[in-house]
Amino acid sequence: MSRHQRPIALSLLAATLLLTACKPDEEEEDNGGGGGTPVQTTPYTLEIPANMPPMTIPADNPMTVEGVTLGRFLFYEERLSGNNTQSCASCHAPQFAFSDHGLQFSVGIDGIAGDRNSMALQNLGWEQRFFWDGRATSLEEQILQPVENPIEMHEQWPNAVAKLQADPGYQGLFADAFGGSIDKYKAAKAIAQFLRTMISGNSRFDQFQRGEIQPTIDEGLGILLTQQEGGDPSLGLGGQWGADCFHCHPHGGALFTDGIMRNNGLDSQFTDLGLGGVTGLPQDMGVFKVPTLRNVALSAPYMHDGRFATLEEVIDHYDSGGHPSTTISPFMKFTQGGLQLTPEKKAQLLAFLNMLTDMDFVNDPDFQDPGTP
Ligand code: HEC
Ligand code: HEC
Repeated sequence: MSRHQRPIALSLLAATLLLTACKPDEEEEDNGGGGGTPVQTTPYTLEIPANMPPMTIPADNPMTVEGVTLGRFLFYEERLSGNNTQSCASCHAPQFAFSDHGLQFSVGIDGIAGDRNSMALQNLGWEQRFFWDGRATSLEEQILQPVENPIEMHEQWPNAVAKLQADPGYQGLFADAFGGSIDKYKAAKAIAQFLRTMISGNSRFDQFQRGEIQPTIDEGLGILLTQQEGGDPSLGLGGQWGADCFHCHPHGGALFTDGIMRNNGLDSQFTDLGLGGVTGLPQDMGVFKVPTLRNVALSAPYMHDGRFATLEEVIDHYDSGGHPSTTISPFMKFTQGGLQLTPEKKAQLLAFLNMLTDMDFVNDPDFQDPGTP
């Protein structure tokens, strides 16, 4: 009962709250993270860059300073894995925009590699679907999965919770953030709060959008290219011959994803069914989450299976028009026969993608390993 050991330098109000909260809590059954004991928490104010939209926070998981602090410890906590060697950060490391050390496939605690590329973690508070196949629809739900995934952290939540419960540091952190006993739902809520603070919004593109800098000529032309249609046959050779990225990776809201699941023409035959593996529907086969393009220069390799090692290869894929299939997006069909980008235009597109790198984000001291609780 760490709460009783915590400092008594509380205001009278806090002390009263604590006392009234104490008794019911001891009898209260774990309610699946649906709130727990009322504790005095400090609201966390998200600083959202001026060129980005407001973030909707789920009503049952308000942002608190205590929750974010706990979430940060848990994100770097190796005891969440079966043999205490792997944390979330093992596969989501800051200097790679919180993706996995340039690896095509991440390797779990048993040395077994998965079959999907680790995803960069940033601006997730604006997103609705998680994982390459979109199988999770909230961060809180997503976070419960890697711990028990047999080829990732390979631990049972009851064991992980027992390890945290045995640590007075975590007893205090959980009590401060949520009150009551430790459970996996509170752990997931805390990590979700931490992830929502991980906002990347100070790339050169953001600075340009806010009118703080002028882009270079190549960057400026690259921005234009992404917003122009590809070689639409109906427009004939006089079509804009742009790079046509904006339908799926729009600049609006500065998120560079439309949040829709699509097929960008990687394969004609699908080995990974993507969303189709979740829903079983024919129209979802080979359909994947449109990822953000932010910090993409830091998060190689690319696509759900990390098949492209460089951004040049990615650009060549779109330039080729992709591989036809029953589910390829009409936005890719437009470009059948290829975008026919000149080497100059490819270089401009690359300049645009590099413009999305945000070193302030990856170096932000608030997102680094906080050490032991
Ligand atoms: C063994 C490596 C590994 C570990 C450990 C790991 N992840 Fe991941 N993470 C991945 C991979 C690979 C994917 C993509 C998986 C997929 O799409 O099926 C992913 C996807 C995600 C996503 C989805 C992002 C998006 O844009 O949809 C989030 C969020 C995430 N991980 C958070 C976490 C958290 C939090 C932890 C710790 C509790 C964690 N991960 C532990 C490898 C890992
Ligand atoms: C039809 C929608 C669509 C269009 C158009 C499109 N993309 Fe994509 N993009 C996607 C999807 C879907 C993925 C993920 C596909 C997968 O992994 O299976 C993706 C992935 C990427 C990735 C890899 C990101 C990562 O984290 O691995 C990059 C980079 C990228 N696109 C850049 C571009 C550029 C540049 C353009 C314009 C030339 C463009 N995209 C046009 C839908 C699209």
